[in-house]
Amino acid sequence: MDVVSTITAIRDKRRGIMGSVGFIPTMGALHDGHLALVREAKRNDTVVIVSIFVNQPQFDSQQDFARYPRDLKRDLELLEREKIDFVFVPPCEEIYPAGFNTWVEVKQISKELEGRARPGHFCGVATIVTKLFNIIQPTRAYFGQKDAQQVLVISKMVTDLNIDVEIIVVPTLREADGLAMSSRNLLLNARERQAASILYRALTVARQMHNRGTVDSAEIRNAMISCLKQEPLVTIEYVEITTADTLDELPIIDRTALVSLAVRIGSVRLIDNILLYPPK
Ligand code: PAF
Repeated sequence: MDVVSTITAIRDKRRGIMGSVGFIPTMGALHDGHLALVREAKRNDTVVIVSIFVNQPQFDSQQDFARYPRDLKRDLELLEREKIDFVFVPPCEEIYPAGFNTWVEVKQISKELEGRARPGHFCGVATIVTKLFNIIQPTRAYFGQKDAQQVLVISKMVTDLNIDVEIIVVPTLREADGLAMSSRNLLLNARERQAASILYRALTVARQMHNRGTVDSAEIRNAMISCLKQEPLVTIEYVEITTADTLDELPIIDRTALVSLAVRIGSVRLIDNILLYPPK
């Protein structure tokens, strides 16, 4: 496995690759969810490149950026075990040199859900992903369904800017109690970690009601909120049921719906989602 830190070096490696390139952009603190993306890329592509870069512009505050979990040594060991070909680990000044002043903004879809809670977040994501796509020139790029809105923002950006990369979405990987795998789970203490299983329980309430025939979003949303309120450590940021492709309000579930939620447990912000499909 080759670990490279400059744009010139990764471009040199890229030029030498025959066949397809699968790319997984990450911010490190790798977990099985990332490894599921890596394994899917290994199934589809000749060569796999992973990037590790904690992208400051997508964080809400300096404090949130500073405490994001980092363990490069462990990340590289995990990737070595997966027999990854190249890992791109640029320092901040390689990506954002002095005077950097160009930003990518995907308008409407970035403003919903997470965008309301975290203005500027998706501009940071779209900018770094555009840069990484330009640098790596992948055939396919892999993202987790756990960050459903991120997938929509990046897919829209790729379409609108004619970026020649196929976006592959991999289902959310969950812990035994249903908690979606996320690097931020490492920030939870033992009691908070236990409380965090309520997110998936609330999503399960939605799925069960829908399976029993409820199509009224308000009814499902209220039941989810009641479920979340059973856990005293949880502060709800939002619980939304929207169209899965445009994130428009969906009062009656008559097509594929994205049920998403964001909560705080202590000082840790967690998100999760499921899709509900209309009856056949
Ligand atoms: O999903 C993430 O880890 C990040 O948002 C990404 C796509 C690596 C961009 O920094």
